[in-house]
Amino acid sequence: MNVQWYPGHMTKAKRQMQEDLKLIDLIIELVDARVPLSSRNPDIDQLGQNKSRLILLNKADLADERQNEAWKEFFQSKGFHVVKVDSRNGAGMKTIQNVIQEACKEKIERDRRRGIKNRPIRAMVAGIPNVGKSTFINTFAGKACAKTGNRPGVTKGKQWIRLNKNVELLDTPGILWPKFEDQEVGIRLAFVGSIKDDILNMEELALKLIDYLKEHYTGLLEKRYGISEEGNAVEILGEIAKARGCLKKGEELDYTKASGLLFDDFRSGKIGRITLEWAEQEKN
Ligand code: G4P
Repeated sequence: MNVQWYPGHMTKAKRQMQEDLKLIDLIIELVDARVPLSSRNPDIDQLGQNKSRLILLNKADLADERQNEAWKEFFQSKGFHVVKVDSRNGAGMKTIQNVIQEACKEKIERDRRRGIKNRPIRAMVAGIPNVGKSTFINTFAGKACAKTGNRPGVTKGKQWIRLNKNVELLDTPGILWPKFEDQEVGIRLAFVGSIKDDILNMEELALKLIDYLKEHYTGLLEKRYGISEEGNAVEILGEIAKARGCLKKGEELDYTKASGLLFDDFRSGKIGRITLEWAEQEKN
């Protein structure tokens, strides 16, 4: 689901988030491993004060593994617990169980001191649209998990998914709104498909992506399309159009079609595992 955000959306999402946060101990925040900063809304740090925090670098399968590691260290250095995951195929799910216990150590200890035994940790998944929240909840919870709210006698309202005897997950994720203040953030979210394509100039975006790939992942376009990376971005897009037979009537190159194809390939990982924001640059 990709949506556009207006102030009304933001206020509503924020209010909902504030309500749900009252119910939980742990925030499981999903970010897109290809754009770990642009896919984050830092307001969560303020909203989620006093909560245990776990960041999942989701879609890690599509991102550069060296950068995944660098981002993991980056967020760990800021005090977050971090796990790299691929929610589509389930990689990383086992690790999360242990990390949740670790992240909530203080709460467990506090309960123990007060004589409260075996109170499950209550967690909520949060993240901007399209980051993979639903996919994650389905994979993590698995089909075998019963929704506690479906049991007779349980009052209506919030539904909890009991993951095991230690952890319960709110079944509706918290939706964070993307932060568009910086134009570059909007461009990166568009690259990964988190902004509706039909309001974007896809050709212009394709040229920007080509420039980025040429500079940071030299050789991948050559390999994917059997073309030369010599020349400027317009020429390279033209080469892709030729290589893939994107032609209009009269043999004119169809740059729009070639742009669409480039983005399909990029977003599905066919060009390679690519990260659009580098952790090293953030440290400086
Ligand atoms: P949301 O609830 O946060 O809005 O996101 P959602 O789960 O709907 O996921 C958005 C898209 O991201 C889906 O693809 C989903 O399959 C994909 N996705 C989620 N997690 C991962 C991951 O770890 N790796 C990869 N490669 N993809 C992931 P879609 O194309 O919109 O739908 P579909 O074709 O998969 O049905």
